[in-house]
Amino acid sequence: MKRILVTGGCGFIGSHTIVDLVENGFEVISADNFINSHEEVLPALKKLTGREIPNLNIDLTDRKLTLDTIEANGPYDAIIHFAAFKSVGESIAKPFKYYQNNIRSLINVAEAAFKCGVMNFIFSSSCTVYGDAESMPVSEESPILPAISPYGLTKQSGENTLKDLARNEPNFRATLLRYFNPAGAHESAIIGEASRNPSTNLVPIICEVAAGKREKLVVYGGDYPTRDGSCIRDFIHVCDLARAHTSALKFTLEKRSDKKVEPFNLGIGNGITVVEAIRAFEKVTGESVNFEIGERRKGDVPAIFSRFDKARKILNWEPQYGVEDIMRSAWKWEQRRFG
Ligand SMILES: NC(=O)c1ccc[n+]([C@@H]2O[C@H](COP(=O)([O-])OP(=O)(O)OC[C@H]3O[C@@H](n4cnc5c(N)ncnc54)[C@H](O)[C@@H]3O)[C@@H](O)[C@H]2O)c1
Repeated sequence: MKRILVTGGCGFIGSHTIVDLVENGFEVISADNFINSHEEVLPALKKLTGREIPNLNIDLTDRKLTLDTIEANGPYDAIIHFAAFKSVGESIAKPFKYYQNNIRSLINVAEAAFKCGVMNFIFSSSCTVYGDAESMPVSEESPILPAISPYGLTKQSGENTLKDLARNEPNFRATLLRYFNPAGAHESAIIGEASRNPSTNLVPIICEVAAGKREKLVVYGGDYPTRDGSCIRDFIHVCDLARAHTSALKFTLEKRSDKKVEPFNLGIGNGITVVEAIRAFEKVTGESVNFEIGERRKGDVPAIFSRFDKARKILNWEPQYGVEDIMRSAWKWEQRRFG
């Protein structure tokens, strides 16, 4: 049985990926200090997988602790590195928080990988690496333009660090997964998005407004050159994303590429506006969402959606869910968090 270290395994995407990995026969160990997640996810994962998932409760920005703890709990066949902060807006207000956490933790985890001889690495990247892309949809060949937020810069920096490591170590393989807009929850509603910090992602905010936990939703910008003036995004169901990690892991372990570093876009290629996303939620749940159009937000690109043909062809991956499934599952989760 292959043994995989999943950093950030207690977070939103990490927890859904752990379920998919266990269902596909992998043994998983998580490393997460709950800085943006809750310990309740561990019993929830046990309920879903029937397995106790061990978690190394360490701050991955602490180099010595990270190297020593990861080494002491090995061996591993691969590392999937999710742990990072993820709010574009917050990164503009607090750039050093993002440089420190995201860049430092990637360097420490990569150093631990090298120290333990783990030559298969999967990195949670983001469509923010494309910057303010000029033409849509973006493919992996689209230019990497200047990052428009410190968060995006940390993802570009992570990708570049891994490329540099691969240049100097013949056996090292890194797969870069560029997510578009992950949302939704496991169909059981046993796990979902449960950030410790107030969420800045659209779908959890829609759910919180519908549940009466927030008064209203502000749509940032109504004057973009799009169908209704709001930004266009490519929402991908977190369970589709989780499956893509299992495929990417097999691809990496089996060394199915001549290239040592391979990027993959993970979106569903169907860009919808923020207002259309709100309407889709209202349609499938029958709940109404109190929203207003506000000012544009710094760091947002007007539109971004993906071509994912490469993931389809090479990873054999196909998204199964659309925006209505995302909204339905997110609402079910909102109604019974950690039930
Ligand atoms: N959710 C999105 O919209 C999105 C989009 C593109 C890329 N990503 C990337 O995917 C990854 C996972 O995102 P998510 O939505 O699951 O976020 P999340 O915040 O739910 O999960 C991240 C997990 O990492 C942990 N963590 C963070 N810093 C840590 C540290 N220094 N030491 C130990 N643990 C630490 C947190 O406690 C959390 O459980 C991140 O790298 C994020 O940048 C997310």
